[in-house]
Amino acid sequence: MEIKKVGVLGCGLMGSGIAQVAATAGFDVTVLEVEQKFLDKGFAGIEKSLAKFAERPVEKGGITAQQKEAIQARLKGTTNRQNLADCDIVIEARPIPLRSRLPN
Ligand SMILES: NC(=O)c1ccc[n+]([C@@H]2O[C@H](COP(=O)([O-])OP(=O)(O)OC[C@H]3O[C@@H](n4cnc5c(N)ncnc54)[C@H](O)[C@@H]3O)[C@@H](O)[C@H]2O)c1
Repeated sequence: MEIKKVGVLGCGLMGSGIAQVAATAGFDVTVLEVEQKFLDKGFAGIEKSLAKFAERPVEKGGITAQQKEAIQARLKGTTNRQNLADCDIVIEARPIPLRSRLPN
């Protein structure tokens, strides 16, 4: 099965990083959060990171301004889980409840 659209649960440290890497690799990405403010924070982090890559020459691992724009165009945020319905894969990057980590 070909993967085109990636879903990510959580836009914190891990989720925003996973979303950025997936979008940079060419996938359409939708990130689900519980509140818009967490999406705003995560996407601001992605913007900052991509801006650093855009400052770097392409031959040294950087990206062009056009590539940065294309990566950002592939990234979407949502607080509605229905928007993940058409994802080919969903990656969980949200906290796991403490109870599920405890031994029986
Ligand atoms: N940070 C690390 O180095 C690291 C390494 C390995 C594993 N992990 C695991 O990855 C997961 C995420 O870690 P993190 O550091 O990104 O945490 P984080 O606190 O930075 O981000 C978690 C995000 O998930 C969101 N969230 C909570 N419930 C949600 C829900 N039901 N649906 C969607 N989003 C939800 C929160 O609003 C928050 O923005 C955790 O389970 C953590 O144990 C983290």
